[in-house]
Amino acid sequence: MNILIFVVLAAFAVGTAQSCGTCQTMKWATCDGTPCNCFVLVGTGEKQNLNCSTLIPKCFLMKAEMYRARKGLSTRSGGKPVESAFVDNDGIYDPDCENDGTFRAKQCNNTEECWCVNSAGVRRTDKGDKNIECAKLVETYWVRLQLTHKPVDAKIDAAKLKTAIGSAIKSRYNFKQDLVKEIQYDSDARLIIVDVKKEMGDRKTNLAQMAYYMEKDVKVLPLFNDQKKFEPMVDSQKLEMENILVYYVDEEPPTFTMKNLPGGIVAVIVVVVVVVVVGLLLLFFWKKRQLKYSKAQQREMDNM
Ligand SMILES: *[C@@H]1O[C@H](CO)[C@@H](O)[C@H](O)[C@H]1NC(C)=O
Ligand SMILES: *[C@@H]1O[C@H](CO)[C@@H](O)[C@H](O)[C@H]1NC(C)=O
Repeated sequence: MNILIFVVLAAFAVGTAQSCGTCQTMKWATCDGTPCNCFVLVGTGEKQNLNCSTLIPKCFLMKAEMYRARKGLSTRSGGKPVESAFVDNDGIYDPDCENDGTFRAKQCNNTEECWCVNSAGVRRTDKGDKNIECAKLVETYWVRLQLTHKPVDAKIDAAKLKTAIGSAIKSRYNFKQDLVKEIQYDSDARLIIVDVKKEMGDRKTNLAQMAYYMEKDVKVLPLFNDQKKFEPMVDSQKLEMENILVYYVDEEPPTFTMKNLPGGIVAVIVVVVVVVVVGLLLLFFWKKRQLKYSKAQQREMDNM
């Protein structure tokens, strides 16, 4: 009997000394203690407790990433060594979070310059000084995920693709499938446009969180502990993703001054270049055909 108690106690002691588990939804988390608690460092000695049975709020994830970047820790793990942190242009900053992991409406990135964000933590006003007013956190109710996939052997069926993407999003991010409203597919461009939309006023579903996990899945490496990739299966073909662009639509339109000009100019230049190239190609083939044609004619004449 005494021996049994001793064994139980010894097991208990070992159990508390070691980590008590892994955090499935956050690979950088540490789990220890009894009862088991998982946390991620967001500052020196500053622990953010996590609920690992669900996706981690984006605000906490961004804080952890900024801390790791400051410490020179890898924000990518399992892959090749880091060239430099944050080359992904995620618009990352050190956010202020509420206790429940939602973003504070006003963000300053530890500087004197501040701006207002939406529920995805994305800036929706011009930058201002510390006195900028952000009356409330405006909710993002619609995200458009613009994905490109790697080349595949067989042609992808658009209807099956929709089912595949929907169920991949459901199982991977534990997300309601009926929020995946529409999927457009352009097989030539290997472009998949996924519209995920909730009712305005819905404060239970967090689109930003799901989109952020997917962004990391595609652009860097999964945040999930098991490092499995996001690869929807269509007809036993794995669809590997190459790139992702996320558009945010808020319940109220953003108020920043639209600075589309550079983008617009680039688009115009690209169109002009494409038109010129196509024109030159057409001319080239037309000339070649004419040449062939006249040669053929020549031969026919010679034969006669
Ligand atoms: C963790 O999240 C799950 C799923 O959303 C929830 O049921 C549970 O109550 C949460 N646990 C804590 C301690 O908040
Ligand atoms: C936030 O500050 C860091 C440096 O502390 C900088 O690298 C980053 O670009 C800033 N992000 C934004 C969105 O201003």
